[in-house]
Amino acid sequence: MSTKDQSFCLKTHQYNAFALRIRCKKAVIIGVKKGGTRALLEFLRVHPDVRAVGAEPHFFDRHYERGLAWYRELMPRTLDGQITMEKTPSYFVTKEAPARISAMSKGTKLIVVVRDPVTRAISDYTQTLSKKPDIPTFESLTFKNRTTGLIDTSWSAIQIGIYAKHLENWLLYFPIGQILFVSGERLVSRPAGGLGRVQDFLGLKRIITDKHFYFNKTKGFPCLKKAEGSSKPHCLGKTKGRPHPEIDQEVVQRLRDFYRPFNMKFYQMTGHDFGWD
Ligand code: A3P
Repeated sequence: MSTKDQSFCLKTHQYNAFALRIRCKKAVIIGVKKGGTRALLEFLRVHPDVRAVGAEPHFFDRHYERGLAWYRELMPRTLDGQITMEKTPSYFVTKEAPARISAMSKGTKLIVVVRDPVTRAISDYTQTLSKKPDIPTFESLTFKNRTTGLIDTSWSAIQIGIYAKHLENWLLYFPIGQILFVSGERLVSRPAGGLGRVQDFLGLKRIITDKHFYFNKTKGFPCLKKAEGSSKPHCLGKTKGRPHPEIDQEVVQRLRDFYRPFNMKFYQMTGHDFGWD
């Protein structure tokens, strides 16, 4: 581990250089926006060996000039053997992020929650619509030219879902084995299964299991029986699991056709078929 790596953990280990060298572990949920990143982080926080910052730091995209000391200060203090975590979903689509994270620590484990890019785009649009109700329809933003069916790939809601393209950028700096891909769909249908894989990947004891979840019918999503640091049940807030507007099925189909080759490439790269077609 380089001196740069160590600097991230100095806060808690400054008097114990040996522990610092062998125990400092970190993981970042790098994406994707609307994939289910908040759910994953909230669920992981239940683990006693995970210490996570709640808000999104946006260090490796927006605030990099503030320096590593600023970032380190944001991070919760960890004990030996604990993992420091954060989530900022925009990292996955930020060109500079892989080099920057690698420069901080080559050993950082990366997690990406991926979701069907078409549903993800609609979810992304729904979020924007909730803040700016006057924006054009999803259908009109999707196309550069509706008559020719030319998709506007510069629209971020579409662009983010071209996972294979973004992943190529990460693979220039990290081996594929250092990145875990979690199915956003499975995180909803079988949260404990997804959490099992994540705990294994992070080298954590499998503490979070089926017993931690219940399905809340009103919310329509799995929730925690007990949130971290509380004995009460906990569902994610109203901004997670919003109803989506009805989208013209022809447009949905056109988007499915558009994403198919990129999805296939992504399945090949990750060795995992996410079943989005
Ligand atoms: P929708 O609001 O479109 O349903 P992110 O946290 O990355 O912004 O992702 C938000 C998405 O997380 C939600 O999108 C929702 O589908 C998904 N999600 C996954 N598990 C969830 C859970 N247990 N509770 C609420 N939303 C969950």
